[in-house]
Amino acid sequence: MADQSARGESGSTGDIFRDKVVFITGAARGQGRAHAVRFAEEGADVIAVDLCDQLDSVAYPMATPEDLDETVTLVEKTGRRIVAERGDVRDRERLAEVVARGVAEFGRLDFVIANAGILPAAGEQAHDITAFTDAIGVMLNGVYFTIEAALPTMLRNPDGGAIVITSSAAGFKSVSTDLDSMSHGAAGYTAAKHGVVGLMRHFATSLAEKNIRVNSVHPGGVATPMVLNEAMAGFVAEHPSFGESQRPLLTGPMMEAEDVSETMLYLCGPAGRHLTGVALPLDAGLTLK
Ligand SMILES: NC(=O)c1ccc[n+]([C@@H]2O[C@H](COP(=O)([O-])OP(=O)(O)OC[C@H]3O[C@@H](n4cnc5c(N)ncnc54)[C@H](O)[C@@H]3O)[C@@H](O)[C@H]2O)c1
Repeated sequence: MADQSARGESGSTGDIFRDKVVFITGAARGQGRAHAVRFAEEGADVIAVDLCDQLDSVAYPMATPEDLDETVTLVEKTGRRIVAERGDVRDRERLAEVVARGVAEFGRLDFVIANAGILPAAGEQAHDITAFTDAIGVMLNGVYFTIEAALPTMLRNPDGGAIVITSSAAGFKSVSTDLDSMSHGAAGYTAAKHGVVGLMRHFATSLAEKNIRVNSVHPGGVATPMVLNEAMAGFVAEHPSFGESQRPLLTGPMMEAEDVSETMLYLCGPAGRHLTGVALPLDAGLTLK
């Protein structure tokens, strides 16, 4: 099992985040859910938000309210608490409400994982300009709004905290590989994932005096519904150069969401205490190509 191999044979968990609180966007499924469960296993309470709705620019099925309910069930199984709300990361006021509800419940906020995302690069709708504005809205504006919503509470922490932005290998190289695979959605995805590196450096520099560390993670392909779906399979079949550009150097199995969670744990936990301002590739060598 992927999570067991990442944690060693025992699959054991610890308590490095006992009595800490993490705010995770896009937590209904995929990587966001895996991070919520893994942080809870380490003792953290979770504030979770997810759109749980479909955007017209996205060609694959997005998360549902039932997905978010499942995240709640899985976190509660660990014995930790979770405040989970539906909300759009493009909506500043809604994010502030969600954070306020969570902080009212748990009394503090230590970590932010700005993870919510869409990949509007496949299907006819990728050529609608909305695919560009949605990508920027969710993955650049949304990341900024997420951090902004959390900051007033985090700044009260005497012992600081940590923020991790989920970028992508597309934060280092283009999603589109040629004129044929070019689209508004691919442009928006690439621009947003590059753009958050700027936000990461902005916040890492600005928040260092409060001992709040800020880093970005840049995964290659991760086995989640964002990429394992009919629309993306069709896109890869139509654009073999895209498929080739996404093939990592390492030849092992595709990365699982739980593998990314281990990196989140490292960046937020004591082992990462000297790390800030780092754009960390987690891509099995993909961006070396
Ligand atoms: N899967 C991959 O191969 C891959 C690779 C690199 C980076 N990423 C990034 O990882 C992050 C997580 O993606 P995933 O792979 O878990 O995909 P996913 O589609 O399973 O999960 C993304 C979650 O974000 C939520 N979301 C989307 N728009 C939202 C909005 N406006 N407000 C609130 N929530 C919203 C979705 O509902 C969904 O639950 C994304 O930022 C994605 O761009 C994914």
